[in-house]
Amino acid sequence: MQQNFREAIEDPIFETIAQAAKALQIDCYVIGGFVRDYVLQRGLPKDIDIVAIGSGIELAKQVALLLPNKPQVSIFKNFGTAMLKHNGIELEFVGARKESYHRDSRKPIVENGTLEDDQNRRDFTINALAISLNEANFGALIDPFNGRADLEKKIIRTPLEPAITYSDDPLRMMRAIRFATQLEFEIALTSLQAITDNKERIKIISKERIVDELHKILASKKPSIGFALLHKTKLLPYILPELVALQGIEEIEGQRHKDNFWHTLEVVDNIAMTTDNLWLRWSALLHDIGKAPTKKFHKKIGWTFHGHEFIGSKMVYKLFKRLRMPLNDKMKFVQKMVLMSSRPIVIAEDFTTDSAVRRLVFDAGDHVDDLMTLCEADITTKNAKKQKKYKNNFKLVRQKIKEVEERDHIRNFQPPVSGEEIMRTFNLKPSKEIGIIKDAIKEAILEGEIANEYEEARAFMIKKGLALGLSQDNV
Ligand code: CTP
Repeated sequence: MQQNFREAIEDPIFETIAQAAKALQIDCYVIGGFVRDYVLQRGLPKDIDIVAIGSGIELAKQVALLLPNKPQVSIFKNFGTAMLKHNGIELEFVGARKESYHRDSRKPIVENGTLEDDQNRRDFTINALAISLNEANFGALIDPFNGRADLEKKIIRTPLEPAITYSDDPLRMMRAIRFATQLEFEIALTSLQAITDNKERIKIISKERIVDELHKILASKKPSIGFALLHKTKLLPYILPELVALQGIEEIEGQRHKDNFWHTLEVVDNIAMTTDNLWLRWSALLHDIGKAPTKKFHKKIGWTFHGHEFIGSKMVYKLFKRLRMPLNDKMKFVQKMVLMSSRPIVIAEDFTTDSAVRRLVFDAGDHVDDLMTLCEADITTKNAKKQKKYKNNFKLVRQKIKEVEERDHIRNFQPPVSGEEIMRTFNLKPSKEIGIIKDAIKEAILEGEIANEYEEARAFMIKKGLALGLSQDNV
């Protein structure tokens, strides 16, 4: 039975598109994500895809003519598509195709397909739903593959044989997993098998597009769904081998370590509950990657991962580089989180001095709260008593950080005595002594020997300078 989706296309823009198509005497439909997200009530669309049974480019031009502000049309001739912006939403126009839909395809684009040809070549049944913009059946849902039912059953299925759909565009393997994560849908078993069978084909997909999907998986409510599927389909070794290396539990002489892959996924889910910061979520995903190369068994103490934070932070650089991710402040942030990921744990375990807290704030700077969020997410013990204890300890660390901050202002530390003042005081030219004195002042503050303020720092500077054998000409 045909359903009417008039409500979905109440926005006047659809009337305008319909008029434009009528003027050109072609049929056109709203298709893809817009229809899917309307059914799922996923909020306002970012873009709207229109498929024309004819030239998408001509249709876009005609729509632009009819709009009062005459927006500019961007034409992508090679892909046979055109785009215009209207009220902050991107309208994408494409002609129906018989052959692969894939935008990056090097094959010539075969147009002049029917709507059904076009729907056939789309990735998933839930993305192949179309709503008619034609006079004869304006608002009718055209759903030849039961995409509507799949939305209800929460299933990701391909319109054609999965092997065909995935070989048309192997990125769809990632898209299937990404949609399964975002929507919390199941991937049909035949599809899952086809992804596993075709996993190697992911090699031909650009790193940028893969990373785009990884970002979307990580930004989901429960990212572990995606990573578990990447693991299950054996795509993960092609994308993030560092994570694969964390999988497994080894036992020697009755001593076991935890499975750091599944632990990591729990940490990522935990952090997703407390922050939307994508790079903090990346930090959670990568915080233990140094554990695989540093794992050792010692007869007396059992399993150790000495220095895994340092090795892990080095691995972050290589991983970002390999995946063509930005090697900028985002990468440095992730490195820092990985490098410092155990610091608050050590403090929490052994509440000793304020100086450890001051050093933590000094080293983490503005990222100290993010670091605490990461450490809290790292608590995955199933032992309720321990869980409570750890959480409570971190609460105390947070409290201590606040106290130390209020008192000592260590965050974004600025030396209370400048290099110039040291030079003036001891009549020095630029020299290594200045660095030594500055460093000694900083250390004294972090150790709590002096307060983080001018008078005490100056007195300390003079003492230190004299001890170095300098003369105080200007004191
Ligand atoms: N599509 C496809 N194969 C791809 C990419 C896209 O068949 N590899 C089709 C799907 O019908 C999809 C439409 O093109 O619905 C639009 O693609 P895109 O804008 O990338 O995705 P959306 O479905 O709109 O979803 P999202 O915006 O969440 O990525």
